[in-house]
Amino acid sequence: MTKVAVLVGSLRKDSINRKFAQGLEKLAAGKLEFVYADLASLPHYNDDLWENPPEAVTELKATIDAADAVLIVTPEYSRTYPGVLKDAIDWAARPWGKNSWGGKPLAITGASPGAIGTAIAQHQLRTTMVAVGTAVMGQPELYYAFKPEHYDAGGAITDEATKSFLEGWLGSFADWIAKTGK
Ligand SMILES: Cc1cc2nc3c(=O)[nH]c(=O)nc-3n(C[C@H](O)[C@H](O)[C@H](O)COP(=O)(O)O)c2cc1C
Repeated sequence: MTKVAVLVGSLRKDSINRKFAQGLEKLAAGKLEFVYADLASLPHYNDDLWENPPEAVTELKATIDAADAVLIVTPEYSRTYPGVLKDAIDWAARPWGKNSWGGKPLAITGASPGAIGTAIAQHQLRTTMVAVGTAVMGQPELYYAFKPEHYDAGGAITDEATKSFLEGWLGSFADWIAKTGK
C-alpha cells in the first residue's frame, strides 16, 4: 500500500489538526497508509547537532525516506505555519546532500476553528515546500473549517457532504502520488 508520512503541526493533545488527520486516515483506509512523524521530541534546528544527531531527527528523516509521499496538516499561527513544522522541515532538508524531501509527492492541508481554514498558513508552507524540492500538489486545495459535530465518538467523519468532498481530495492526492512518485 502507498505509505504516507504525516506531519501534524500541532503538539497539543486535543489538536483539531490531529483529529482531522485521523479522520482523513480513516477515509483513506485500504488505499493510503498513514505513518505519523513525531515532532514533539525535535530540538530547534542547530547545525552543530549534526556531529551527534538527536534520535528524533534521524527518526524523522527515516520516516520521510521510507514513505512514498508526505502529507502536512498544519494549524495557522499568527497567519503562518507553526515553528515546530519549520524546524521539522529544516532538519529533514539536511545535512547537505541528504535532503529527505527531494522529489517527494506532497499534499498540504490544515484545520482551523474559523472559516479561513488555514489558507494563509498553507500558502506560506507551499512556498517553503517548493523550496526544499517536494512535488507539491497544487490543486485541489483543502482549507478545512473544523466542525466537531461532523465526527463520531471514534473520530470518524460522519457528515456525508464533507466525507464525499474529502474522499475526492484524497483520490486526487493518490493520483498525484502515482503520477509524480518513484
Ligand atoms: C499562537 C496562536 C496563533 C494563532 N493564530 C491564528 C491565525 O493566524 N489564524 C487562525 O485561523 N487561527 C489562529 N489561531 C487559532 C488556531 O486556529 C486554533 O487554536 C487551532 O485549534 C489550532 O490548531 P490545533 O487545534 O490543531 O492545535 C492561533 C492559535 C495560536 C495558539
